Formats: sequence, structure tokens, C-alpha cells
Amino acid sequence: MSLKNTYILGIESSCDDTAAAVLRNGEILSNVVANQTIHESYGGVVPELASRAHQQNIVPVVDQALHKAGISCNDLNAVAFTQGPGLMGSLLVGTSFAKSLAYGLDIPLIDVNHMQAHVLAHFIEKDGYKKPSFPFIAMTISGGHTQIVLVEDYFKMTIIGETIDDAVGEAFDKSGKILGLGYPAGPEIDKLAKLGNPIAFKFTKPKVKGLNFSFSGLKTAILYFIQKQVKENPRFIEENINDICASIQYTIINILMDKLKLAVSETRVSQIAIGGGVSANSGIRNALKEAEGQYGWSTYLPALEFTTDNAAMIAIVGYLKFNNKQYAKQSIMASSRLKI
Ligand code: KG4
Ligand code: ZN
Repeated sequence: MSLKNTYILGIESSCDDTAAAVLRNGEILSNVVANQTIHESYGGVVPELASRAHQQNIVPVVDQALHKAGISCNDLNAVAFTQGPGLMGSLLVGTSFAKSLAYGLDIPLIDVNHMQAHVLAHFIEKDGYKKPSFPFIAMTISGGHTQIVLVEDYFKMTIIGETIDDAVGEAFDKSGKILGLGYPAGPEIDKLAKLGNPIAFKFTKPKVKGLNFSFSGLKTAILYFIQKQVKENPRFIEENINDICASIQYTIINILMDKLKLAVSETRVSQIAIGGGVSANSGIRNALKEAEGQYGWSTYLPALEFTTDNAAMIAIVGYLKFNNKQYAKQSIMASSRLKI
């Protein structure tokens, strides 16, 4: 028996990456991301510039995704798009484009929650990657979010912990800014940390009750530490960059791992999946791999291409919703504060 293929186009534009992907059933045929380099010189994402860049990128990015997948838009069965959360001006570009395309092709439109997509990216078919079974704990760690989510089914997710101030990606990026690194600094800190001593400098971990996080105090502690050291030795940063990065990363990973241990003991669920840009970090990936032997957890690390913002994760959620006929109406609006 031959089953008819389902082709879903995923569109992501919630922050500063314009992305499109084509999925055939559970398998990715193309995954195109246009990164916006314009923000680098500002040390952070400038919303108005992001929105303008999305407008320039959206057509070529979708066109390339279809081309790479070897299909035409007439082969599509549905268009899935990020409804939120994210920057309103950015979300509006993807939302309006997806609505028009679905309307023009007369195919279903499917709304996707960006944070659910970071969790459900684990269900993309990929050689060498296993899928978690329910229930599992997902920790979504990105530039905009830090959450611990109990996932009981594809669309039954409960936030059991989250940051009360900065996201963990911001902790990386703001520390990098203090050190004079480029934006986003996470990948650079990760690289520099590999050659450093993680216990060279000690930063106190924030004391936040339960499963919630706080990263703004850590950022301030790092700022004061660096200012004090630079006063004594103006070359302190360049002479110690590897040790500083390794120590910052080590502190952040300890904070994340402590909360995961607490989440496992509170829920008695020991399948752990991570998602979001910071899940690309080699330190957190190693810590989770070690936790398999150390604590008997089963851990799920996304393929690197599905860690930072991408449209493949939007397309997989689109596919899961398509199978349930969960379509959106043309009147749907972008929602910058959409909850999981
Ligand atoms: O998921 P994402 O692409 O966008 C948001 O939804 O925020 O995450 C971007 C964040 C940035 O803060 C970036 O510094 C961080 O992910 N990041 C990393 C690494 N790669 C990306 N942080 C630490 N180590 C990395 N290797
Ligand atoms: Zn994201």
C-alpha cells in the first residue's frame, strides 16, 4: 500500500532569523535560515531592523526551501508559521506571508507556538537521533526563554519552572558584551571555554527557590568582577579570556543542571530533552551525556541544525497538527506573548 506524501512548508520569523523548511511526512527535505548580521554592530537585536530584514529575506528564503526540496508550491499540503512568542514586527512578516500563501494556494494554514516547536523538534526524523517518549522533561534554553516544561503529550505541556528575569542565552550574550566579544556571544564563549579552566574563577550561583531561574545577578557579578580585575591589570581580559569563559560557562551549566536534578526528583520523570539556541552549547551537552551514567537519566540532545531558531521545528509541529486537522483561520493574529 502506498501512502500519499504530506508536504508541509514551515516559516519562522519570530526574532532575527528568517527561516523556511519543507517537511515530507516526518522528514526534512530542506531547512534554510537567513541570519541577520545587521544586529552584530548593535550588540543585540534591533526590532525595527529585524522586521525590515525579514521583509527582504522571506521570499528568497521560501523560494530556496522549495527549490532545495525539489517541489513547487503547488505540491504543498499546508503552510505552518510561527504565531508567537517573539518580536511583533518580526512575527507579522511571517504571519502575513503564510496567510497569503495558504490563501492563494487554497490549502490549510497552521499556527505554531515557537516554544512548543523547540520542544517538538525532537520528533523530526533524523538518522542517529532517538525520539523521547511521553512523559519527558524539556528544558528550553534560548536568547529569549529559559523554561522547564513537563511534556505529557505533543500538545500537553506544563511550564514547571522559568526565569524570573534574563534568559540563559542573554546571560551568555551579556557576559560576552562585558568581555568585548561579538553578538551573539554564546557560540564564541563556548569555543573559548574549551581551552580554559572552569574553576579558575568562582561566581556565586543565584538563590532562586523551586524550579525558577534568575540570571541577572550573575551578569552583574561578572561585570563587577571584570571591572575590579581590569582596574588592577588592564590586560586581565585578554590574558585570561579562556579561563573567564570556561568559568562563566561552568557556572551557568551548574545552575541549569541543579534545576534539572530538582525537576527530576519532583516529577520522577527522568527523560530529559533540551532545545533552543543554548542547547548547542558543548558544555551542557556533555553534562547531560554524563548524567545518563551518573543519574540514570535518558537524555535527548537535538541535532545542531535544530537548536537555534529554524523552520524545520515549525514544520514538524505543522505536520503533527495537520494530522489532527488543527488548522488556523485566516483571521488569526501574531501574538508576541503567546504562552506554551
Ligand atoms: O533559539 P535561539 O536561536 O533564538 C531565540 O529564540 O532566542 O537562541 C539564540 C541564543 C543566543 O543567546 C546565543 O548566544 C545562544 O542561543 N547560543 C549559544 C550557543 N549557540 C547559540 N549559547 C551558548 N553556547 C552555544 N554554543
Ligand atoms: Zn527560539
